[in-house]
Amino acid sequence: MAEKAVLTVGDQRYELPVLEGTEGERAIDITRLRDDTGLLTYDPALGNTAVCKSAITFIDGDKGILRYRGIPIEQFASRPNFVEVAWMLIFGRLPRQEELNRFSDLLTCNELLHEGVGYQFQHLPPGAPPMAILSATLSNLACYHPTFLAIEGEESLEEAAARLISKVRTIAAFSYRRALGLPFNYPDPRLRYCANFLHMMFSIPYQQYIVTPEVEDALNLVFILHGDHEQNCSTSTARVVGSAKANLFASCAAAVCALWGPLHGGANVEVMEMLKRIHKGGLSPEDCIREAKDKTNPFRLYGFGHRVYRNYDPRAKILHEACDRVFTQLKRKDPLLDIARKLEELALSDPYFIDRKLYPNVDFYSGILLRAIGIPTDMFTVCFAIGRLPGWIAQWKEQHDDPTSKICRPRQVYTGPNETDYLPMEKR
Ligand code: SDX
Repeated sequence: MAEKAVLTVGDQRYELPVLEGTEGERAIDITRLRDDTGLLTYDPALGNTAVCKSAITFIDGDKGILRYRGIPIEQFASRPNFVEVAWMLIFGRLPRQEELNRFSDLLTCNELLHEGVGYQFQHLPPGAPPMAILSATLSNLACYHPTFLAIEGEESLEEAAARLISKVRTIAAFSYRRALGLPFNYPDPRLRYCANFLHMMFSIPYQQYIVTPEVEDALNLVFILHGDHEQNCSTSTARVVGSAKANLFASCAAAVCALWGPLHGGANVEVMEMLKRIHKGGLSPEDCIREAKDKTNPFRLYGFGHRVYRNYDPRAKILHEACDRVFTQLKRKDPLLDIARKLEELALSDPYFIDRKLYPNVDFYSGILLRAIGIPTDMFTVCFAIGRLPGWIAQWKEQHDDPTSKICRPRQVYTGPNETDYLPMEKR
């Protein structure tokens, strides 16, 4: 017998179905609430509202569990292969070798940008924000690939996904090179995904950038850990835009804009600025914690807290371990890592953070690892976007393939003036 919820409003009693997910999470189905009761629910940041059913990513925020298509995130850390995880997120299972080979070939075939797109970089002002360039250029891809404005079938989706996932690297690297006034490096079809990105970012004429296995693994891991995260702000944005049957390029471009926010994907930049402020002096870790707790101060402890995790973000744990491993392998140290550890130690022993269940999230250590790889701070959120792109595509596809999917159109509680009349200018 399906469980029911009972809602009593005044002298009216309503029964509502209760849905249960495969991991036991339960939701009251209110899809008929307004028709049956005339009532709305109110949940402005949607923190209590499931906006869809999804089979892609499972998070248990209390236990700090994250799984992609059922596989615990920790299991991808030992032999990180971002392209394999990207295909799995999109198509729902681990690829067989021939499928992985085909997708890798598609990525290689689609790594170049149309020269027209390349020319557009020439007219960008120096210092143009890389996330602005990324969002604009992803949307612009629709002009050069009109056949993907209407995607029908898996093959067409796979082709469009390959174009986006491959070209996003080239766009990112070109925006970085343009910002520095350096010549563009064209992608090298002989290189694997992450090595090719680093080549495009860092090779200089007559001096090819050679990636070490440790750095290539570290970047694969960073991209994998950002792959998907159920209905976060940017993914929800991709779904909302896609619900209007907008094309995949437009939906991903919109998601980039949401990710840019400092409360979301932009937090990894804020974490780095925070650590650098402390390293430069004038602000101690203790001052930082004090500022973060001060309600009169808009400053937050960036990289801490999460809407879903009320425990340590499993990604932060993996990234912290990866920082130790990479620095040992590279025989380097970074004082910012020591500062981050000190901040974590202070926060996790402070009642303010303990009572609010605020723990390190994915952004707390990701920037330190990216910095160790040589990625500049203003490219951190772009790297988050490169990692998250397969997740946006997977979620867009899941919605696109759902025959019951409808345009996303929330309601509101109106608090404006009751009916009034227009006043001519002389009476105002
Ligand atoms: C990402 O959703 C996802 O899955 C996102 C993401 C993904 O993979 O897509 O995981 C990636 O965006 C990670 C989060 C990155 N953002 C930051 O690190 C910015 C700092 N964190 C906070 O701004 C905050 O924790 C959020 C935005 C992440 C979550 O905000 P919520 O869920 O709306 O929580 P809240 O703002 O209601 O905070 C609850 C309380 C408040 O205090 P009280 O009103 O109870 O006194 O905790 C406090 C907040 O002031 N608080 C913090 C804090 N985070 C929450 N106080 C100081 N420093 C912080 N970082």
